[in-house]
Amino acid sequence: MTTRYQDTSPVSTDPSQKTVAASRVRMNELVMPNDTNQLGNLMGGRLLHLMDICSAISAQRHCNRNVVTVSVDSVEFREAIRLGEVVVIEGEITRAFNTSMEVAIQVWAENLRAGTRRLCTTSYYTFVAVDADGNTVPVPPIIAETEFEKKRFEEATERRRIRLEMSKKSNI
Ligand SMILES: CC(C)(COP(=O)(O)OP(=O)(O)OC[C@H]1O[C@@H](n2cnc3c(N)ncnc32)[C@H](O)[C@@H]1OP(=O)(O)O)[C@@H](O)C(=O)NCCC(=O)NCCS
Repeated sequence: MTTRYQDTSPVSTDPSQKTVAASRVRMNELVMPNDTNQLGNLMGGRLLHLMDICSAISAQRHCNRNVVTVSVDSVEFREAIRLGEVVVIEGEITRAFNTSMEVAIQVWAENLRAGTRRLCTTSYYTFVAVDADGNTVPVPPIIAETEFEKKRFEEATERRRIRLEMSKKSNI
C-alpha cells in the first residue's frame, strides 16, 4: 500500500527540522446539530475546544512532549459558523521561548455548497511543556523561514510581555 499523506512529516525530534511548517496543524470539522445553539450556529465553547485541540497538537508536534494550556488570548467571534459548514482550523507555532510556546490559531468557516471560505476567528494560545510529573521542561527553538513567520516571531516577545503583565493584574 502506498501512503499519500503529504501534509506534514511525522514528528521529528531533530532540532534542525523544527520549522513552523513541520508542526503546522490543519483540522477540518463538520458542524453537526449537537454542536449548535437554537439558531443553528456553532457554539462558542465548542469552537474554543476545537481550537485548544488543534493548537495543542501543534505544540506537542513541535516539542515532542506533553503540554498544558497556560493562557488563551482574547477570542472574538466575528462571524457565526452554521450547521453543515466545515470549521477549518489552522495552528502554527510562532515562537518557542524557554518552556512555553505561542501558537497562532486561525478559524475559517467553509461552505461546501457555495465553495466559499471566510475567516471567523483568530487567537493565540500559549502552552507549556511538562514531564510526567507536571514539571516544566525546555522546548526546542522554532525555525521561522518566511518573512511573515520571521515578523510574527519578532512580535511574539511583545505579546508575551503583555500577556504576563495582564496575568499579574487579573486577580479578581
Ligand atoms: C502552566 C504551568 C505548568 C506553569 O507552571 P509555573 O510553575 O507557573 O511555571 P513558570 O512560572 O515557570 O512558567 C512557565 C512558563 O509559562 C509561562 N507563563 C506563565 N504564565 C503565563 C501566562 N499567563 N501567559 C503566557 N505564558 C505564561 C512563563 O512565561 C514560562 O514560560 P518560559 O519558560 O517560556 O519563559 C502551571 O501553571 C500549570 O500546570 N497550570 C495548569 C495548566 C492546565 O491545567 N491547563 C489546562 C488543561 S491542559
